[in-house]
Amino acid sequence: MAKKDLNAKAPTSERGNVSAQPRLHQSAPEIQKYGTVSHMLPLDLEEPVRLEMTEQLNLLLADTMTLRDLYKKSHWQVAGPTFYQLHLLFDKHYGEQSEIVDTIAERIQLLGGVSIAMAADVAETTRIARPPRGREEVPVQISRLLDAHQIIIGHCRELAKRADKLGDDGTNDLAVSDVLRANELQAWFLSEHLVDAPLVRAEPRLRSIG
Ligand SMILES: [Fe+2]
Repeated sequence: MAKKDLNAKAPTSERGNVSAQPRLHQSAPEIQKYGTVSHMLPLDLEEPVRLEMTEQLNLLLADTMTLRDLYKKSHWQVAGPTFYQLHLLFDKHYGEQSEIVDTIAERIQLLGGVSIAMAADVAETTRIARPPRGREEVPVQISRLLDAHQIIIGHCRELAKRADKLGDDGTNDLAVSDVLRANELQAWFLSEHLVDAPLVRAEPRLRSIG
């Protein structure tokens, strides 16, 4: 009987190839290519519909991930007399956008598609303009966030109509109930901060509306 090699790097038990040794640095081809949809799903939605919807949802996902990150950047970098209020508001919206990201990504997967995930892929896909790395003043931060909301809101409306036409009720509902309404509400909260209202002393006769 052969002697056991006590210095072996990956010792096996007496059960053949079963081992407690972690198998590190593994690799293999992808199990599904990006931009494809898997078959045999009991969704009653044809493959071309699922392909179009997952493509559109990935655009919406990339924009939503960008807006989510823009909120965290704003949360960290905000400055000025409204620091505390905006610091909290930006983080609240960040958390809500994170929930939306998960909802969209999982919708893509359940339609048989592949969700975009990594920052480099998101950067190549999003329609939202890249901000500078440095800090910007509050009105600019809020303007950037509102521009991003506008892109997402516009896309949501188009997507909802298209999903309705194609019979994808789930995507229609997601676009309106989960994404559109939340973005409209956040945009309202932001835009009220850009109203040039007096902070302490009213100016009843110095300004007129219109
Ligand atoms: Fe924080």
